[in-house]
Amino acid sequence: MVLKKINTAVFISGTGSNFKNLIKFSIKKKNKLNIKLVISNNYKAKGLYYAKKFKIKKKIVNYKNSKISENHILLALKKNNIRLICLAGYMKILSKDFIKRFNGKILNIHPSLLPKYRGLNTHQRAIDNKDKYSGCTVHYVNHKLDSGKIIIQKKVKIRKNDTSVTLAKKILKQEHILYPKAILKVLSNL
Ligand code: GRF
Repeated sequence: MVLKKINTAVFISGTGSNFKNLIKFSIKKKNKLNIKLVISNNYKAKGLYYAKKFKIKKKIVNYKNSKISENHILLALKKNNIRLICLAGYMKILSKDFIKRFNGKILNIHPSLLPKYRGLNTHQRAIDNKDKYSGCTVHYVNHKLDSGKIIIQKKVKIRKNDTSVTLAKKILKQEHILYPKAILKVLSNL
C-alpha cells in the first residue's frame, strides 16, 4: 500500500534544531510526514540552513505588517497543499483568523509542562519556583498563547545544580523525541 503523505510546513524563527530533527524523522521512518515547506519571519534564522541542506522550500516574511505577512504565508501554504503546520520556535503570534483556517491542524512545542509557564523564560521560572520537574509539551494551537489542547508531555527532573542553560539542554533533547511522537499521533487521525 502506498502511504499517503501529509504535506507539512514547519515555522521557525531561530536555531531550528526541532526543524532539523523533524526532517530527519520524516526521511528515516516510513510515515506520512512530508515536510514540504519552512516558513520564517527571520531571514537570519540559523535553522534555514537545513532548508538548503535538505532541499526544502522556504518562505521568509518580514512581518512589517502582520495581516499582509499572514496573507503571504497563507498563499504559500495553499500553493504547497499544506495540511499540517508545526511551530518550532516560531516567535510570532498567529492571528485568530489564521488559526481558524487551520483549526486543529497547527501544533506547537513548548519547553515547560503546560499549563505551567506559558510564554518565555520557562526554565528559569521553573528553577526559581523550586519545581522538582519541568519538561516539554506538544499542544494544538488555539487563539490563546500556549493554551491549546495538550497532545503529549514529557517530564524532566530538575537537579539541584541545574541552571536555565543545563535544563534547557536536557529538555531540548526530550523535545526531539516528543515532537515526532506527537506528530505520529496526530497523523494517524488525518
Ligand atoms: C524550543 O525550546 C521549543 O520548545 C520552543 O522554542 C525552542 C526552539 O528551539 N518553542 P529550536 O529552534 O528548535 O532549536
